[in-house]
Amino acid sequence: MEKMPYRQELDVHFPKRAVDPVVTTISTDWREGLPALTGSMVTLRELRASDAASLCALLTTEEVSRFISPPPTTVEGFERFIAWTARQRQAGAYACFAVTVDSTDTAIGIFQLRELEPGFGTAEWGFAIGSAYWGTGVFQDGAELMINFAFETVGVHRLEARAAVKNGRGNGALRKVGAVQEGLLRKSFQKDGEYLDQALWTILNEDWKPRQIWAAANGQLVH
Ligand SMILES: CC(C)(COP(=O)(O)OP(=O)(O)OC[C@H]1O[C@@H](n2cnc3c(N)ncnc32)[C@H](O)[C@@H]1OP(=O)(O)O)[C@@H](O)C(=O)NCCC(=O)NCCS
Repeated sequence: MEKMPYRQELDVHFPKRAVDPVVTTISTDWREGLPALTGSMVTLRELRASDAASLCALLTTEEVSRFISPPPTTVEGFERFIAWTARQRQAGAYACFAVTVDSTDTAIGIFQLRELEPGFGTAEWGFAIGSAYWGTGVFQDGAELMINFAFETVGVHRLEARAAVKNGRGNGALRKVGAVQEGLLRKSFQKDGEYLDQALWTILNEDWKPRQIWAAANGQLVH
């Protein structure tokens, strides 16, 4: 998601929402705490306050933040963001994972998921990873874990992503995990005083499962 849902002015406490009956049949416990999801290169886990320093160092660079809404600018700002993610998760509207690699526990990026309609039938995901890890496979490994989490655990049916058309890596990354470009959202994202066009990318649950089965049958890694 180019527009990260966190904004300082939204940083208020939400009452915990009643659990949606549709979703209870699938799983509800992610609202109490995110599971650790382990792939071949990365582990996605709940954010912690102590992740603020590494995220601030890695996600505030010009190349990472160029096409996304401005991240917090200080370690304290990231600490507030991390506290906000926990409250949003408890409210059942949003989940944000830290990306860690290999055996280190350092957060080097985030994957976010937010509901676009009550019950999470349609959701939007977004991601940002420190540029030292671009082109290494970290994104694809983390993305597959995140997409599986959205479909299998949260019960998402339609997963949307928006990427500024100028964001070559963002669009390339979405294409390579099987997202389909559905359209162009004209002048839908304001960045540095300029309105940018965004591509709308989607993955449907019913498309994802056969893709995973095909990958498994062809000896590709699936989580
Ligand atoms: C988006 C992001 C997480 C992707 O991670 P990544 O490691 O760069 O992604 P990958 O290298 O695995 O995949 C990107 C793909 O786009 C391709 N690509 C790179 N530049 C491109 C361009 N200008 N045009 C088209 N495709 C491009 C790459 O070749 C790669 O495909 P390949 O592996 O088949 O060669 C990372 O770039 C990032 O954090 N960017 C900053 C934040 C951001 O823009 N978030 C996206 C919001 S939608």
